[in-house]
Amino acid sequence: MRHQTIHRDNVLRGKNIIIGISGGIAAYKTPQIVRLLKKSGAKVRVALTDGATRFVSELALATVSEERVYRSIFPPADTSGTDYTRHISLGEWADAFVIAPATANTLAKLSAGLCDDMLTALFLTLRPRKPVLIFPAMDGQMFLSASVQRNIATLTAQGCRVINPDSGELASGLCGVGRMPEPESIVASLQNALHSTAATSPLYGKSVVVTAGPTREKIDGVRFISNYSSGKMGFAIARAAAKRGAMVTLITGPVHLETPPEVTRLDVESALEMHDTALSCFKSCNVFIGAAAVSDYRPLDPSEGKMKKENPEIELTLVRNPDILAEFGLQKASGQLAVGFALETQTGLGNARKKLKAKNLDLIAFNFFDRKTSGFEVDTNILTLIDKEGVTTELPLLSKDAAAGQLLDCIEKLCVYTPGINPLKNV
Ligand code: CTP
Repeated sequence: MRHQTIHRDNVLRGKNIIIGISGGIAAYKTPQIVRLLKKSGAKVRVALTDGATRFVSELALATVSEERVYRSIFPPADTSGTDYTRHISLGEWADAFVIAPATANTLAKLSAGLCDDMLTALFLTLRPRKPVLIFPAMDGQMFLSASVQRNIATLTAQGCRVINPDSGELASGLCGVGRMPEPESIVASLQNALHSTAATSPLYGKSVVVTAGPTREKIDGVRFISNYSSGKMGFAIARAAAKRGAMVTLITGPVHLETPPEVTRLDVESALEMHDTALSCFKSCNVFIGAAAVSDYRPLDPSEGKMKKENPEIELTLVRNPDILAEFGLQKASGQLAVGFALETQTGLGNARKKLKAKNLDLIAFNFFDRKTSGFEVDTNILTLIDKEGVTTELPLLSKDAAAGQLLDCIEKLCVYTPGINPLKNV
């Protein structure tokens, strides 16, 4: 078993940040913002306007971010098919969007909903709960003009955090309000925003246990029974829950995936090991999410060494493994939620509803398995969420990260809104 240290103080670690740069003199300071974020463990991508390229080099930003930078919404001619909607995939990827400096022109475009470049298009594709921080920087008179102030008010009303510029010497030689805050201060504002966004989730500070991946059931010293599960869905859920401020324990079978930031990972191999590890978390967790593809059976009597092929036929007796999720569901206390998956190769939600009831779950994700777009190994999934009141939400084909986000949105609602389900408290 491997434990990973939790760094709860560094909210930037593992976060995906987009820096939008528009064409003001302060743009020359933006590579430093990117550097500071990278040093804190964030992944950074940059979208800059044509005007910004007059003040800061794309090469400098690509070098410090270690990523290509984005300018137009239209992909270059040599781009692969999946990149055509990158203003949407980037918006989905981002945990926060920082626009610094924001010129009067960019503020006007943002407030009007214009989107003729990557920066402004990204602004429209971000989901509402993701923090958007805007740092206007311009001449003092421009900043105080009625038009700029009206645009700032519109953006603030939409939930953007518009941070007033500093006072001091301006590019014109005049003194006054209009300077972009220093990179350190911009990074600190972003940290605060991320902390308070996480804190608004009902999952903040709650204990969430996720099972993921396949299990291996030993036949002999070198062979096992298993399945095609890659663990991607469970890992996406763990990552998303940690981003919402939950304390996440991920109990995983053998997979080839990196541990998501701020997640405690417990590696197991067999269903019995997963069961014993999960059992130790039953009492203390608020939400238990069974995303593992647990083998239903194991060989009764595995040999220690390698079995020899002496006989033309052999019989393997399999015995039932414990159903981990059902055990949790049937013994959970009030203030605990049980969430499961129903992986089915047939359409129809009947089996999922039966599992929801039989295992006493609060929510089940019916997961259609077709091996191309949905189910094991692939990066996308098609889920239908059914809660215990029967409310059914059909999700479209989504990336597993996006599907995990939708599942957690639903769990958050269960925490707070559904009558009869207590808001979670630490149990
Ligand atoms: N599950 C579990 N322990 C098991 C089997 C399943 O915790 N031994 C959990 C899975 O993680 C999933 C849910 O139960 O969240 C349903 O799993 P699934 O394989 O779809 O169904 P089963 O209950 O195993 O039923 P069947 O194989 O007959 O479809």
